Amino acid sequence: MDGKCLIFLGPPGTGKGTQAARMKVARGLVPLSSGDALRHEIKCDSPVGRQAEAYVAQGKLVPDEVITGVMLSAIETHLQDSEAGIILDGFPRTVPQAEALEAGLAPGRQVSAVLDFVLDDAEIVARIVSRRVCSNCGRTYNVRFFPPKRDGICDVCGGEVEQRVDDREDVIRTRLETYRSETAPLVAYYRSRGLLHEIAAGESAAAVEAEVRRVIESLG
Ligand code: AP5
Ligand code: MG
Repeated sequence: MDGKCLIFLGPPGTGKGTQAARMKVARGLVPLSSGDALRHEIKCDSPVGRQAEAYVAQGKLVPDEVITGVMLSAIETHLQDSEAGIILDGFPRTVPQAEALEAGLAPGRQVSAVLDFVLDDAEIVARIVSRRVCSNCGRTYNVRFFPPKRDGICDVCGGEVEQRVDDREDVIRTRLETYRSETAPLVAYYRSRGLLHEIAAGESAAAVEAEVRRVIESLG
């Protein structure tokens, strides 16, 4: 029952997924990415995937009830199984999703902390247009900052490294607008509950990791 339930909040491309993967290695925390979950459903052409596909491609949020159903069952399973706890990367993303999370956690469980990744728009766009992701294992690269050793080939599994459909500059602009109108209100929501910690995401990945670890370790 002691596993932490951490939320990584922040606009697209601020390094939430990168740091969640590092915290898996460093702290044994289990990353649960709502975007990865939806991309998996889309790849499998499941009913959820078919509902989500157009929203994801356009950079809009999928309906709350669709993503909440997917995430709440995953959260409960992994909170039970992981001693260290979980990181919610990309969920909740609206106030109704945050309320559904609160209501959906088992009795005695609560959100431990919310890490809000802060980065300016120009750097966000620069990072996202140069992001590449392995189509097989999902490992994230960046042709500017963290390229794969062999062009287009995943270092870990040899899979094909490709660009996400929503990583085009026009879609990134929509994702930033969507973040501002629908997700940014969560900053005040969690600040008022005393749970918010700002992370300066413009530093090197190693420096950001040190800050993320400092916050997590301060929780005890
Ligand atoms: P999702 O997959 O969650 O995308 P996102 O929030 O837009 O975030 P990103 O994955 O783009 O960025 P990130 O912060 O993980 O950055 P990363 O570590 O990759 O969501 C996709 C879509 O699914 C949404 O648009 C929506 O349609 C739908 N969806 C998901 N959740 C939903 C929800 N709750 N409700 C409704 N709809 C939902 O880093 C970015 C790049 O920068 C990488 O190339 C990385 O290598 C590089 N990088 C990272 N850190 C550094 C650093 N310190 N210095 C230099 N480069 C760095
Ligand atoms: Mg991500």
